Amino acid sequence: MAADQTPIDTLTEQAAAAELERLAGALAHHDELYHAKDAPEISDADYDALKKRNAAIEERFPQLIRADSPSVRVGAAPLATFAPITHARPMLSLDNTFSDEDVRDFVGSVYRFLGQLPDNSIAFTAEPKIDGLSMSIRYERGRLVNAATRGDGTTGENVTENIKTIKDIPQRLPDGVPDVVEVRGEVYMAKSDFLALNAEMEAQGKQLYVNPRNTAAGSLRQLDAKVTASRNLKFFAYAWGEIIEPNALPKTQFEMVQVFKTWGFPVNPLMKRLTSVDEIIAHYSEIGLQRPDLDYDIDGVVYKVDRLDLQARLGFRSRSPRWATAHKFPAEQAFTIVENIDIQVGRTGALTPVARLTPITVGGVVVTNATLHNADYIEGIGNSGERIREEGHDIRIGDTVIVQRAGDVIPQVLDVIMEKRSAEATKYEFPTKCPVCGSHAVREKNEKTGKLDSVTRCTGGFVCRAQAVEHLKHFVSRNAFDIEGLGAKQIDFFFEAEDPSLQIRTAPEIFTLKKRQDASPLMKLENIDGFGKVSVRKLFDAIDGRRSIALHRFIYALGIRHVGETTAKLLARAYGTYDAFEQAMKEASSLTGDAWADLNNIEGIGEIVARAIVEFFKERRNIEVIDRLIAEVTPEEAEQVAASDSPIAGKTVVFTGSLEKFTRDEAKARAEGLGAKVAGSVSKKTDYVVAGPGAGSKLDKARELGVIVMDEDEWLVFIGG
Ligand code: IVH
Repeated sequence: MAADQTPIDTLTEQAAAAELERLAGALAHHDELYHAKDAPEISDADYDALKKRNAAIEERFPQLIRADSPSVRVGAAPLATFAPITHARPMLSLDNTFSDEDVRDFVGSVYRFLGQLPDNSIAFTAEPKIDGLSMSIRYERGRLVNAATRGDGTTGENVTENIKTIKDIPQRLPDGVPDVVEVRGEVYMAKSDFLALNAEMEAQGKQLYVNPRNTAAGSLRQLDAKVTASRNLKFFAYAWGEIIEPNALPKTQFEMVQVFKTWGFPVNPLMKRLTSVDEIIAHYSEIGLQRPDLDYDIDGVVYKVDRLDLQARLGFRSRSPRWATAHKFPAEQAFTIVENIDIQVGRTGALTPVARLTPITVGGVVVTNATLHNADYIEGIGNSGERIREEGHDIRIGDTVIVQRAGDVIPQVLDVIMEKRSAEATKYEFPTKCPVCGSHAVREKNEKTGKLDSVTRCTGGFVCRAQAVEHLKHFVSRNAFDIEGLGAKQIDFFFEAEDPSLQIRTAPEIFTLKKRQDASPLMKLENIDGFGKVSVRKLFDAIDGRRSIALHRFIYALGIRHVGETTAKLLARAYGTYDAFEQAMKEASSLTGDAWADLNNIEGIGEIVARAIVEFFKERRNIEVIDRLIAEVTPEEAEQVAASDSPIAGKTVVFTGSLEKFTRDEAKARAEGLGAKVAGSVSKKTDYVVAGPGAGSKLDKARELGVIVMDEDEWLVFIGG
């Protein structure tokens, strides 16, 4: 090709376009000869030179990059879908084992099948079970000819072009390899790449990916191989399919995998060859402990009989080999490392310690934070002063810990692996001052029991920015004012804003924002990143739409301690109007007299809640904020109803799991107010169990005993909303 010689910087745009067209045709032709016909006409070096020239021209004239550009994909035009490929040997799955006992059974069954006594003479390989997608990559005369997903085990999808973008996977094997060999293994996304990708998605305000495995699968099933290429997928080789030329090959699983390594495939460095069950189980634990430090997700350890002749004798059941099994890690728990402990300050000033963890996938979700509940929990002390965790170990920064995630509940740190504790791990000193405002943080004494409350609280009140921001977030939340376009992110922005026409530090300022904006021609919200004209108009409309609001929402939004949605409804029903409610609370301030008695007589309101409400209205700052709020917003009148005959009078109820619709105190108070007895454990005498997310043994017991179980919503309907 004469044109090949023309220096690229002298090409006109027209000549460049013509040459790109020619190169696309030529490279497609050579690809076809190379991949499909296995009869190349030009040397690899000449082929590479054509590709390089194509890329250089594209770089100078990016506007000319063709849809069928050879630098985007090798070979044919984009596929409509992935073509099926029938595997030369089926791709099987593995049986699962979950306990040490299961592993003993597996090893025992291998000896039994082979007619031998279990004398530790049979070696097994033990290696991590990579949580990715299995792939079969076929090489003929050392060249990658196709790659297929597992599919149904018999037929997979042809993802050859995408697989070719993975740097870990050689496109050519060294001389002397078998004529045909299908190398099998796992395609995965590194945890670090996954986190970086999600950080980018977050920066762009896009939805986050759930876990590395699904992201790897999505990245591979892209019709545009360029997308796959951008995701930096990786590979481990651990198995094989068809091989023609079996004689020259090693006789064991372990050695076979080492051969893959010499061919240029990554193989897992944690694979070991072991004989006794005890060694195997010890390696399982070791891999489990290393799990947080690995840059890829694993979900268990795979054991395989090492000798290939024994594998052949053992053979297969319908879908899985008799010579292998997968020892799975418990799905909802994982080991990881506490990198740091931070304190979060909530709306009521509670200081909650949060463990920042080395990211780990637990039950299919990447976990980076877990709650440590309170100071006692870190110390190893439970709610009733008992030692928790084995021997009451404390939790330290740098510790290897067991993390548990159940349902939608916030992940928890369950236990510490003491064998892994290093000398640098120091005891955590729980702060005595609020990390946000510097006010004293104290543990209140429970007046009834004389015991210290488990919660450490910031005494800063309104001066604490954390409390103020959290209070605003609560105010606009779904069950309170529910203002569309005003979420946690926007609240942070308005709270931090310095300009008076943009600042929101207390709830009434939400309703004066538009007025202040109108009066300020320079600081326009619509000119600020992330807003824009339409969204600003929508926001102001949403705010105006809440200038009239149901009384119970208004009361709930005030953020009075212990007053959840249910209690707010009780108060709204009992007092009917906001004025009547506020007036009564002020009259009850001495904790004596009619107003105080009336409050305590409301079914479902106990003394702790009643005190908290009265305390709230004694605080001058609260009244001042409410007065400004009432100038902007009108709480609607509520329908007052008298308590009717309760369906749960005289019944015994147990609440379990984490309740989301009400606090446990509130649930108990309400049930007792309706005449029920609330018990802590499930027995034959239990009439109803109300189970929130993450309910465990109590729920199991209830089912076993045939007790009626309801979720929170069903319960609310049952007791009349
Ligand atoms: S061996 C005939 N080894 O686990 C046995 N599989 O549950 C072939 N997997 O589909 C599989 N890591 O995707 C084997 N080290 C490993 C593995 C592994 C992950 C996956 C593989 C397979 C699935 C079976």
